[in-house]
Amino acid sequence: MKLLHLDSSIQGENSASRAVSAAVVDRLRAVDQNLQVAYRDLAADPLPHITLPGFATGQAAAVLDEFLEADLVVIGAPMYNFGMASQLKAWFDHILVAGKTFRYGNAGVEGLVPDKKVIVALSRGGIYSDGPAAAMEHAEAHIRTIFGFLGIDQVEFVVAEGVALGAEQRASALEAALAHVERIEPLALAA
Ligand SMILES: Cc1cc2nc3c(=O)[nH]c(=O)nc-3n(C[C@H](O)[C@H](O)[C@H](O)COP(=O)(O)O)c2cc1C
Repeated sequence: MKLLHLDSSIQGENSASRAVSAAVVDRLRAVDQNLQVAYRDLAADPLPHITLPGFATGQAAAVLDEFLEADLVVIGAPMYNFGMASQLKAWFDHILVAGKTFRYGNAGVEGLVPDKKVIVALSRGGIYSDGPAAAMEHAEAHIRTIFGFLGIDQVEFVVAEGVALGAEQRASALEAALAHVERIEPLALAA
């Protein structure tokens, strides 16, 4: 089985999403010792903004192929300014290609990507799972929308939130996220 692991946090070793995405990959490796892992650090090695002449060619085509080849995709996704990091958005801009990953037809839009399991390690400074800030959450919502558009329904979010609300809240958010990682079902991974 092939796994594509992406990170996009600019916060290096202090990154919550990197810590959780690494734990997810460790868990998946423990379940499948033959797992082939490709890793892309979108913060250290950012993809360019898309351009019309370069669209879906050269490096952009390779990024798309890497995504299509993966059975499992694990994404470290920090919330920056209420949405995903622009580095991760640039990756999505490379994989949404009409005719390759989706198409418009008589029946409307159709996702063309064979289903994959996607696990998103999402970290947020504040609390968005309920309360007044819920309507300001555009990271999880945007990522879920995109994968659904491509035809991928198996998207699991492992969320660490409130990590900017003090050391205690950060520690308990990370602890809860890492406990969630341990509950990821091996059967669901193979499905
Ligand atoms: C540039 C920047 C923008 C941020 N914007 C938000 C935000 O809009 N809402 C929020 O709750 N937290 C925000 N935060 C806090 C991050 O969501 C929090 O640090 C989270 O842990 C980021 O993931 P990371 O630790 O993997 O980088 C921001 C942090 C940075 C560095």
